[in-house]
Amino acid sequence: MILTKPILFSAVQPSGNLTLGNYIGTMRHWSSMQNNYDCLYCVADLHALTNIKKNIFSLNKLILDTLSFYLACGVDPNKSIIFVQSHVYQHSQLNWILNCFSEFSELLRMTQFKTKRCSNNTSVKSIKAALLNYPILMAADILLYQTNFVPVGEDQKQHIELTRNIARRVNYLYGNIFTIPESLITQYGSKIMSLLEPEKKMSKSDINHKNVIYLLDDMYSIMLKIKNAVTDSEIPSKIYHDINKKPGISNLLEILSAVTNKDIKILLKELEGVMYSEFKKIVIDCVYKCLNNLQKSYYNYRSDESYLKKIAYDGAIKAQLKSKKTLKNIYDKLGLIAFEYI
Ligand code: TRP
Repeated sequence: MILTKPILFSAVQPSGNLTLGNYIGTMRHWSSMQNNYDCLYCVADLHALTNIKKNIFSLNKLILDTLSFYLACGVDPNKSIIFVQSHVYQHSQLNWILNCFSEFSELLRMTQFKTKRCSNNTSVKSIKAALLNYPILMAADILLYQTNFVPVGEDQKQHIELTRNIARRVNYLYGNIFTIPESLITQYGSKIMSLLEPEKKMSKSDINHKNVIYLLDDMYSIMLKIKNAVTDSEIPSKIYHDINKKPGISNLLEILSAVTNKDIKILLKELEGVMYSEFKKIVIDCVYKCLNNLQKSYYNYRSDESYLKKIAYDGAIKAQLKSKKTLKNIYDKLGLIAFEYI
């Protein structure tokens, strides 16, 4: 009997500077996940086309930057499939098919669509259809590989629910075509908040850069940003974890816990009686150490573009092989004619 591991799919958009939030929430876990799952790590470049800003960065560069971060986080191309979404055109093909099984009203209900639509400062006329259809492409990414688990932050959970609903709908009509995926959410650190406004998520699209620690930030920026991070005015000051009463301190605790791999309970014992300013120094030190290691590895991979392209090429071939099985199956069920090359 061959024992197979559950399948895990994860993706990040190559849409700009990755943040400490991306790292802590998702990418930090990728390396160890390879031991327990058959992993697919995808650079979601087609998703990034929904918010393309002309001439700021070329997408080409961002894709290779993102791939380098994947490798720097310990993703091993011999253990996992690491690939770029647009290289596996089965994604676009399934995307269209799933569009035919998705409801306009369920897409309109997506929180991310609602917030992007309001925050983009755009008139209704210029909102792109892709922004609405975005989660269907996510569903295609996931369902194409018979994925069991998708590690996501809280903000993407709704998209996974939608994916499950679309999959169930297709399965109900055509038999068991898709595995129903589950989201995998880590207890702490699945949502790192912004430094000055700890009520909102740390986001790479934040216009206030002081809110966000980027993975390529230098020591000086890390220090300045954490030094200025919002705490609270409880007297006497006390460090404990309570997201509602102490959002700033709780966020810094979660960051510290993630970068040191220490449980918050243990940290709290070590931090008993420590002043906020001292606490911040510890956080600065630990974040710097963590990012410095990551950056060294990142620059090492980033300097070799031909290696990166080879990784992407090999990954695409492997991903295509897997995705073709699902696509053929659904072609058959829908009455499309599936040739070998599909
Ligand atoms: N939309 C995700 C993000 O911005 C990236 C993504 C694309 C994704 N396809 C996915 C995440 C499939 C999980 C599963 O973070």
